[in-house]
Parts: sequence; C-alpha cells; structure tokens
Amino acid sequence: MSSAPTTNPSVTLRGLTKRFGGTTVVDHLDLDIESGEFFSLLGPSGCGKTTTLRMIAGFSDPTEGTILVGGEDVTSTPPHKRDVNTVFQSYALFEHLDVRRNVGFGLRRKGVDRSSIDKRVAEMLELVELGDRAKDKPSRLSGGQRQRVALARALINQPKVLLLDEPLAALDLKLRRAMQAELKSIQREVGITFLFVTHDQDEALSMSDRVAIMCDGVVEQCGTPEDVYERPTSVFAAGFIGTSNLMNGLWSDGCVSVSPTVSIPAPGHQGSADGDPVSVTVRPEKIWLTEHTPGMFRLPGTIVETSYHGATTQYVVSVGPDLTLTVLEQNLPRMRAEDRWSPGDRVEAGWLPEHTVVLR
Ligand SMILES: Nc1ncnc2c1ncn2[C@@H]1O[C@H](COP(=O)(O)OP(=O)(O)O)[C@@H](O)[C@H]1O
Ligand SMILES: [Mg+2]
Repeated sequence: MSSAPTTNPSVTLRGLTKRFGGTTVVDHLDLDIESGEFFSLLGPSGCGKTTTLRMIAGFSDPTEGTILVGGEDVTSTPPHKRDVNTVFQSYALFEHLDVRRNVGFGLRRKGVDRSSIDKRVAEMLELVELGDRAKDKPSRLSGGQRQRVALARALINQPKVLLLDEPLAALDLKLRRAMQAELKSIQREVGITFLFVTHDQDEALSMSDRVAIMCDGVVEQCGTPEDVYERPTSVFAAGFIGTSNLMNGLWSDGCVSVSPTVSIPAPGHQGSADGDPVSVTVRPEKIWLTEHTPGMFRLPGTIVETSYHGATTQYVVSVGPDLTLTVLEQNLPRMRAEDRWSPGDRVEAGWLPEHTVVLR
C-alpha cells in the first residue's frame, strides 16, 4: 500500500523487495517519505524493518525495486556515497576515543580542517546536551548519554536522512521516555528527515509525523498517528496498536452481528454486502459506562474484571456469551474509590456509532 504522493520527497521506495533464499522478508514496499518528516516504521520483531533500513543505507542489496534519496536513484550507489547515516540500537562507539573524537570522527575522515571540526563538534555536543562531557571516554557515560553521542556523531555529517534502528530499545522505560522527547526536539531543530524503526507502538505514535505499520514484509497501513490509531484499515493494524476490542461477525443491513443477540451499527462503513464476514473494533477509551449521550449505541453488560492503573481504570465488561469489551475510564479528580465499578455491577457500555470501525 502506498502513502500519499509527496511534493518534496526525501526517501522514495518503489517495489523494494528482499529475499533470503526462498523467503521474502521485504515484499514490494512502496513508500514516500517527505523531506523533514519524522517517519516511523512500526512492526513486530522479524517483520523486515532492519532489512529495509539496511537496503536504504546500502549495506544490503535489494532483490528487486528502487531506492531514491532526495529524488536521486541510489539503488546501486555504495553506502558511503549515499546521503544517509544510521544510528543503531547498540551504541557502536569507539571506546578508546573520547566523546569529542567520537563525534568528530566522520569529519576527520573527510579531511575537514581542525578548527571547523572543533566548532561543529562543540555545536553537536550542545545540541545533545553533552557539552560538559567532551573529554570523557564512552565507558564513563550512561546508556542514554552514549546514545546521544551516537546521534551527534551521525548528525554532524548533515545527512539528508537519518536512519534510526530501535535506537532507544536498550534503555530503561523512564530514560526512554525522556530520550523520545529529546530526539523529537532535536529532529525539529535540525530539520533532517528521520526514518525511525521501532516495535513500540507508544514510541511510534508519540514521536512521528507519520507511521507505516509493517507486517511480514508488507506495509499494512500508512498515515498520521491519529489515522492509524483511530481509523485502522486492517485487523493487523487494529490489533498491533493499542487494545482493539476486535470482534468478528457478519455484515447485515448497516450493522455487524457479532453474536445472536448483539448487532453493532456501523453507519460510516461502505463496500460490504449483506452476509459478508467482517471484523469490527472500538477502542476502549471510546466506550463509556456512565453519562451516556443521545445517539450512543448501548449494550447492557456486567463488569467481570477491574484493574487500577493510576490515571485510568480498565474494566472488562461481559456483554454476551463469549463476548467481552475492554473499557478504559479516566480516574477523574473528584472520583473516589467507591465511585469505580466492581465485578458483578450491571452497566451499560455505550459509544458513538462513528467510533465503530469495520475492517474487511
Ligand atoms: N542475512 C539474513 N539471512 C537470512 N535471513 C535473514 C537475514 N537477515 C534477516 N533475515 C530474516 O529476515 C526477517 C526480517 O528480519 P529483520 O529485518 O531483522 O526484522 P526486524 O528488524 O523487523 O525485526 C527475519 O525473519 C530474519 O530472520
Ligand atoms: Mg530489527
């Protein structure tokens, strides 16, 4: 599936394919990534993300297809002549060189003069907030700091495109969140196209201008974080991002019947004929257990499970035999413990019909 055509393409993939032996791991990928975009490839382990990045970087030859960087065909260009740099998950720093020399490495190799190197290195270290660590060896740095050195070392070459392969995966959660925000702000500041690979949906949603959801070497859906979360177009996309309340049923007269007693209206859906098997999903935070408004679709049910998550409480509501819905409620400021639902409570699960998403 192709994304929208772009006016200022930075990376263009056409029919990009990689086979190892008889196994196709990247399958006719078409993507248009725009200049200055923060673009994420999101998918489970083994879906072909790293293989795709390695082909764009030039470390691996495509079996078929073309790669353009800045409008120029680089499919047969050697890696060092492509206007891209890569940051990997493992911080491949030179342990015997201090931070300053690690960051300046690329410019020294290009034969840039000493004073220009010093100036650029100082700027990069400011950018990644390591100005005071210039003379330290990498072994004295934390994981997050080492990854910032790797980032500075890649950015100093001012590539058109920075490829990032799960660069935060080795960091603990808190540091990871902090680095996500930092990376995003650095990208905004330098304006370079970032092609970011991750298997972490929160990371992809919170950082990206657009996300491509990948499965088995194929892009399942490509769009803004809101597009792919609110309007998933495939069962895989709906299930991979967030909790999806996925139900299977038959299309009939503007509704999806998911059980003998439950028929869910889906007014926005087109293109199915009566009797077609379809899947249907509604996100947990779209479902309300109180304060229903007119026009909501409502299903009576019973609370079967509750779990408290601090800012939210998650409920599992049984709405029929073998049919449950997961519901996420905000724990509002005035709410007391006794205001929350308990197992056994009878409730009505309601949502606006427009929040029902039908997947073929
Ligand atoms: N050099 C290789 N030879 C054979 N198979 C490979 C090679 N590199 C990757 N693969 C296979 O290709 C698939 C995709 O791998 P990869 O691109 O690393 O996935 P991801 O980065 O999404 O986890 C995996 O099944 C992997 O085992
Ligand atoms: Mg990988």
